[in-house]
Amino acid sequence: MQGLDGKVAIVTGGAQGIGRATVDRLVAEGVAVTIADVSDDYGKAAEAELTEAGGRVWYAHTDVADEESVIAAVTGTAEQFGRVDFLVNCAAVFIMRGLEATVDEWRRIMDVNIMGQALCVKHAAPHMARAGGGSIVNIASISGHIAQPGYLTYNATKAAVANMTRCMALDLADSGIRVNAVNPGTVWNANNERYHREELGLTRAQADQHPDIGGKHILKRTADPSEIASTIAFLLSAEASYVTGENLMVDGGYTAL
Ligand SMILES: NC(=O)c1ccc[n+]([C@@H]2O[C@H](COP(=O)([O-])OP(=O)(O)OC[C@H]3O[C@@H](n4cnc5c(N)ncnc54)[C@H](O)[C@@H]3O)[C@@H](O)[C@H]2O)c1
Repeated sequence: MQGLDGKVAIVTGGAQGIGRATVDRLVAEGVAVTIADVSDDYGKAAEAELTEAGGRVWYAHTDVADEESVIAAVTGTAEQFGRVDFLVNCAAVFIMRGLEATVDEWRRIMDVNIMGQALCVKHAAPHMARAGGGSIVNIASISGHIAQPGYLTYNATKAAVANMTRCMALDLADSGIRVNAVNPGTVWNANNERYHREELGLTRAQADQHPDIGGKHILKRTADPSEIASTIAFLLSAEASYVTGENLMVDGGYTAL
């Protein structure tokens, strides 16, 4: 993809799942990447594996809900790699609760999923502006656009991300920064694999065939994390130079039904 090689990205939540797949794809495209995550085991393992393979990767222990931690990750990236061109806001917590949600549950999910994304943009954008521009991808979800039983807390945060993306795109356009959101359908990451196996007794093939899981998508299957990562890479790249403020569904047709 045009405009990726030699650039520098921060991927929050980059230690696992969609974030890790995004790190892999960006490194393969010649991007230097900071993995900003709270999961030290997975983050350090990813850093070691990708560095060994010739990539430029730095793991920064980062809690996106803690502003000092975000500042350290952003300034550390500029020190390590000389600039910041891209931000992928992938980190999230999955507190799926309905009206019974406690105040603490509401605060935690809003702190990480909403404020965490805003704090990362707040501190990464000035570096991008100084470098003449950049590109940001926020990870929202189909859940931000639909109702799902018992998902009030999570879906509220993802709807917020969808509209924060438009506001950020407007406010950062003059700095040459594009801001878009990717909205995945169901993605078969390690945590989803464990949930389906332990809670529902389903393999991936069975989940894909299930009318309430794979069957909810036009493509009749869940996604691989790499299928979300490729769209993220596209939106970061110069190939998407006229795309901003957009919520792109990468959902196998879930929301088209
Ligand atoms: N998996 C799906 O089906 C799916 C669908 C739609 C949207 N999404 C969204 O995609 C994104 C990635 O999800 P995933 O499925 O890859 O999840 P995942 O659990 O595999 O990875 C999430 C990562 O975020 C990190 N993280 C959690 N809290 C953090 C914090 N406070 N600071 C920094 N890092 C933190 C975790 O350690 C983990 O490495 C999330 O924003 C999620 O809401 C996922």
